[in-house]
Amino acid sequence: IYDNSDTASFQVATEISQLIRQRQKQGKKAVIGLATGSTPTKVYDFLVQFHREEGLSFKNVVTFNLDEYYPMQPDSIHSYVRFMNEHLFDHIDIKKENVHIPDGQLDKEDVRDFCRDYEEQIRKAGGLDIQVLGIGRTGHIGFNEPGSSLKSVTRMVRLDRVTRLDAASDFFGLENVPTKAITMGVGTIMKARRIVLMAWGEGKAGIIRQAVEGKIRESVPATFLQHHPNCEVIVDQAAGSALT
Ligand code: F6R
Repeated sequence: IYDNSDTASFQVATEISQLIRQRQKQGKKAVIGLATGSTPTKVYDFLVQFHREEGLSFKNVVTFNLDEYYPMQPDSIHSYVRFMNEHLFDHIDIKKENVHIPDGQLDKEDVRDFCRDYEEQIRKAGGLDIQVLGIGRTGHIGFNEPGSSLKSVTRMVRLDRVTRLDAASDFFGLENVPTKAITMGVGTIMKARRIVLMAWGEGKAGIIRQAVEGKIRESVPATFLQHHPNCEVIVDQAAGSALT
């Protein structure tokens, strides 16, 4: 539990930069799973700052984003492609071919193959060294809504109404929020060698308590993280306020 989201985000960004530098020294790639939404933005700000001011290079970094709405055009203001470019990729020296984000503009019949290939690409890259997560009020990680199984893999999912309501203001109305998304599965996330789940603000206090202290169950997918051997939950005072 950190005093505020700034100090917490600095800590997470520092851990990521240390991983990148360590892999660089070994002549290896760092494979990083990324999230979108309001939670990780300060982490990305710090990473950009480390790139500009401390010469942190992302040339050896491979990224896999958790999810994307479906359908979604990459140039839409709502797309996670655009989000990642604006918050991180446009400001660092990452190679375009090392960036992976689920494709929201696939034809329906191509989604299955795409998802299988996404899993394969993560595997071929050597697996995720670290996965950064936020958490939804439904307890979702990625877009693994209640009912997602521990073994789930990258796939098309239907978004929970609560998740769509939370996105409604960004989309200027609930009716504009996509009903579906493509997301890494809980099983995909669980295979990461390290997981950092972050949450800020009072609005996340209840779900953080359930995720950390609640019974492990499909109705709160984040509880599956209790099984992970190297997962850290990083919260500010407000998001940690319901923990006992
Ligand atoms: C985003 C994602 C979601 C968000 C979650 C929290 O890529 O996978 O699980 O992390 O919905 O969203 P914010 O951070 O906006 O509260």
